[in-house]
Formats: sequence, structure tokens, C-alpha cells
Amino acid sequence: MGVNQKVRIGMIGYQFMGKAHSHAYRDLSFYFENPLKPELTVIAGRNEEAVKEAQEKMGWKSYETDWKKVIERDDIDVIDIVTPNHTHAEIAIAAAKAGKHIITEKPLALTVEEAKEMLQAVEENGVKHMICHNYRFVPAVQYAKKLIEDNKIGRVYHYRANYLQDFIMDPNFPLVWRLKKEVSGSGALGDIGAHSIDLARFLIGEFAEVTGTMETFIKQRPVGEMTGGLNAKGDANEMGEVTVDDAALFIARFENGALGTFEATRFAGGNRNKNKFEINGEKGSIRWDMENMNNLEVYFADDEEGTQGFRLINCTEAVHPYAGAYWPPGHIIGYEHTFIHLIDEFFRGIAEDYQPAPNFDDGVKNQIILEAIEKSSENKSWVSIE
Ligand SMILES: NC(=O)c1ccc[n+]([C@@H]2O[C@H](COP(=O)([O-])OP(=O)(O)OC[C@H]3O[C@@H](n4cnc5c(N)ncnc54)[C@H](O)[C@@H]3O)[C@@H](O)[C@H]2O)c1
Repeated sequence: MGVNQKVRIGMIGYQFMGKAHSHAYRDLSFYFENPLKPELTVIAGRNEEAVKEAQEKMGWKSYETDWKKVIERDDIDVIDIVTPNHTHAEIAIAAAKAGKHIITEKPLALTVEEAKEMLQAVEENGVKHMICHNYRFVPAVQYAKKLIEDNKIGRVYHYRANYLQDFIMDPNFPLVWRLKKEVSGSGALGDIGAHSIDLARFLIGEFAEVTGTMETFIKQRPVGEMTGGLNAKGDANEMGEVTVDDAALFIARFENGALGTFEATRFAGGNRNKNKFEINGEKGSIRWDMENMNNLEVYFADDEEGTQGFRLINCTEAVHPYAGAYWPPGHIIGYEHTFIHLIDEFFRGIAEDYQPAPNFDDGVKNQIILEAIEKSSENKSWVSIE
């Protein structure tokens, strides 16, 4: 594809992530000199009234009520999958066979087997693919990666991650798709733990083995559905069984010898979206927290005696990846911008013919770790990551 060429998007789904991705397509060319210009060509959903409303509100040119029609259309270059996890494989495999480039939300699939089939489909059909681990694209996280690569903290000893939410703590929060194994694969583990796994792999390297434990605190809930964002509505007269974990804790050994401790829970009251990591190395430490996403805290052991301690870097300078595209230093950016950066990378991959990351291969590796944690929780054992 040439410079300034249109890339025509067909997006399946239109709620929480549909809004985040639509915004990213709309703003990409405003901030970034990307060779491709997205055109919001068609949006798909099953409910005609709702999808039409979303089409108008988010600025899409047309809508379909059957995702298969989107894939059949020859005016579509990219399929964007923002539907629940159990649909990712079928849609992605059909899109790959139709020669469309694909961006899908995480986790890649419900099982490792399904994830591998998806990877095989994109590789066999020679299309570009990405999985939406958007937290990699926070400027502060990208800068943390640079500090590690520049050997500023030396050998890494510890990777410590918590991903803490509390939106389902109320026992009356309904039984939505996120709480059903056949739709979501797992609970807190695959929904938010998957992001922590991706950040760890991105920042310090591959997992060697894991052991974990999982718990479902509230076993029954009123049946209901998501209504946008992390909101939901339910019917108190009908109860159903929760079939996924509410919390997952695990520890890991990395191939480079580092130790990892991880906690993913939706029962950490007061923590709305606290996605955090701290990395301790021989020469320094780095820590970051999504709720203050523009800031990175760093500690360097060779700082002058008396001045040692964590210092705060506001990652809004031109030297911080992506930040220079926006505002003067100190004028912060937010959650939605992470998706713009990810899509910038995706389109560069398409335009310049390289495979961007994180992609389906990362999705498979992530799924292998998720499955290993579930297995270790069942067997109370360590599981090595092949
Ligand atoms: N990257 C992130 O940080 C992040 C955050 C939230 C969700 N997600 C992921 O994004 C995906 C969607 O999550 P969400 O929060 O946007 O969900 P949501 O419930 O807000 O929206 C799901 C959308 O999919 C549609 N849909 C549901 N079942 C469908 C089917 N069978 N066929 C066609 N359309 C269907 C719904 O109508 C809705 O538009 C999930 O895979 C989730 O794990 C990622």
C-alpha cells in the first residue's frame, strides 16, 4: 500500500472496545504521520437499531447486522474484532481466508488450540495481524522498555505485577459474558491477567514456568448483560452460575532467571483499573501504575549518596515514545491514546510490509501461559511453558 492510501476498516462489535477503536481511527491522522488513512467503512452488530445508532454516533459510513457480510465485502481491507472472546477465532479465521488484515481484542481465543489455529490462518494467508495489548503503547511503558534495553537497571531480579479492579464486587452485579467460561475462557485471569503477562513478556522476556491459584468468591449472580464500558444490567429474578475465576494469583520463573509475582483480581475494592508493575534490577528499579499512566518512577543505585530514592518522570517529553505527537511537556494524555499508538503501529506494518507486534504469535504465547496457570491451579503444581 502506498503513502496516504486509504485503509478501509470493517469493525465487528461496537460497545466498550468498539468506542476505543473507533476513536483511535478517527484521531490517528490528526496526530500521526501514518502512511495510511483509515476509513471507517462498516460497523457490524446483531441488533439493527443499536448498531445503526453506534454507526451514526461513532462516524461509520455503513452498518451490517451479520459479521459474515462484512468479511465478504470487497471494499474492506482490515477486520477489527471487538466482540467477546468466544467469537474471535471464527471471525479471525474467516477474515484471514478472505485476505483481510486483522486486529483483534485480547485474549486471542478461548484455548491454546483455538489460538494456534488463528495463527496458522493468518500465516497461511499472508495477512498482517495484531492483538490489542494496548498497555504496551503507553509512552511511560515504552520508555521503561528503553531503560531496560539500555541496561539502566542491569540484570532483572523481580517482576511484580498487580492488575486490580473492583467492578464485580457487588454480589448483585449481573452474570454477564465476562463471567461465563464458554464465552470468556477465564475470568480475571484472561481479562486482566493477560495484560500483565503481555507487559512482562514485552519488558523483561519469556516465561519459563508458572504456578498459581484461582478463586471464585461469588458463585451465583442474577443473569444479565453488559451495557457499555464495564456497566451491566441484570434480572434479579433469574440466577445463574459463575463459571470463571474472580481472582487469580500466580508466580513465575522467567527464562532470564528473574522471578515474577502476579495478582489479577476484580475484588480489590477501591481499585478501579490499577494495572501496576515494579521491576527490580541489580542497578535500579522501575515502577508504573496505569491510574497515573503518564508517570514512571525510577530508582538508580548509582545516584549520589543522600539523594537516592525513586524519582518521578512525567513521560510527556518528545524523547518519550509517542508523546511528542501531542502537547508540550506536562500536558498529559489518556487511556484512549494507547489505542491510537497501537493502530499507528498496525498500519505501518501494513504499509511497510512488516509484521507488527504484539500479534497472534504473542497471543498464542499469552494463551499458553494462561492455560498453564489454570492447570497449575487445578493440580497444585508448577507447569513449564513450552
Ligand atoms: N484492550 C483492553 O484493554 C480491553 C478492554 C476491555 C475489553 N477488551 C476485550 O474486547 C473484547 C470486547 O469487550 P468489550 O468490553 O468491548 O465488550 P462489550 O460487551 O462492551 O461489547 C461487545 C460487543 O460485541 C457484540 N457481540 C457480542 N456477541 C456477539 C456475537 N456473537 N456476534 C457479533 N457481535 C457480538 C456486542 O453487541 C457488543 O457490541 C473482548 O475480547 C474483551 O476481552 C479489551
